[in-house]
Amino acid sequence: MFKTMLASTEELRPLVEIVVDGRSVQAREGEMLAAALLNAGVVPFRHTAISGQPRAPLCLMGVCFDCLVEVDGVQNTQSCMIEVHAGMTVRLQDGARRVGDVK
Ligand code: FES
Repeated sequence: MFKTMLASTEELRPLVEIVVDGRSVQAREGEMLAAALLNAGVVPFRHTAISGQPRAPLCLMGVCFDCLVEVDGVQNTQSCMIEVHAGMTVRLQDGARRVGDVK
């Protein structure tokens, strides 16, 4: 579905390791997290709180909120609006936000 645009080697940012639900994934530093997760085959990103329906990024521009994940302990982070950094820890969300885990 998605294809990486070709870029010269000077334009490519370094590969870094991130952890997604305990699995090590390589991504380009500074690329949008949603793109990195899709590129790694991570789908769905979450399940809704009411019906449990699977969700994945739709707009990729911060409007739909279907790309929510937990990033470095912060729940409900829009993955299409945050850049990858080395050591980032991502948890896919299942249902409602955990009460008491406010960050
Ligand atoms: S994909 Fe729509 S808000 Fe992130």
